[in-house]
Amino acid sequence: MTMNSEKLVRLERMGLGPVWQLRARADEPVAVDTTEVAALVAADFSALDWDELEATIRDCVRCGLCRGRTHAVPGIGDRNASWLFVGEGPGRSEDLEGEPFVGPAGKLLDNMLKAMQLARGVDTYIANIVKCRPVDADGRDRPPVQNEVAACRPFLERQIDLIKPTVIVALGKTAATSLLSLNEETSLASLRGEPHSYLGIPVVVTYHPAYLLRKPEDKAKSWRDLCLAQSLHDER
Ligand code: URA
Repeated sequence: MTMNSEKLVRLERMGLGPVWQLRARADEPVAVDTTEVAALVAADFSALDWDELEATIRDCVRCGLCRGRTHAVPGIGDRNASWLFVGEGPGRSEDLEGEPFVGPAGKLLDNMLKAMQLARGVDTYIANIVKCRPVDADGRDRPPVQNEVAACRPFLERQIDLIKPTVIVALGKTAATSLLSLNEETSLASLRGEPHSYLGIPVVVTYHPAYLLRKPEDKAKSWRDLCLAQSLHDER
């Protein structure tokens, strides 16, 4: 273990975060071995209440994504919601504002909620698989990689534990495969159309709103997924 990693682990264990580090571009090689850090810091957030959990997410240094962020994006909504929508990770607008799905994909998600007679913050909670924005070498959004997903997973697990949603809607392939711990090569098509389970909570998989903006002809299929989610919700 490098000195840096040891120091980070010790500081995080002692609750002395945030650990300020020189800012670098998020796509640059990470100076600390963050896989090691993530593995070593006991990922037991099971005793944290909402405020402690959100503060821990905002101060998190468990993976390299912390280095490029403006804001971590814990999630938004009703903390006792019966509906949980899970996306991939913050994009540019979300990183700037600290709230999930506030860019163009977010506008479509809001319309999807409206079509279900739901609304942001009213019996709904919106979260992401990773809480900090992943960017590629050109500064564009990219899907999170495995160790970023693994480092962030305990946060979503604790959120689900606190919310106790009736139904979870996974938006897109990254959300679905990460939440359901499936091989990342699993196709979205193979996951749509039937409910899955996260610790007994039904999970419905549908298209990511950003994909639907590019392929609006698939909106009808997405609507079918949301109807499936609605019927599972109503029967519980
Ligand atoms: N895409 C996501 O998956 N999540 C967001 O918060 C924004 C865009």
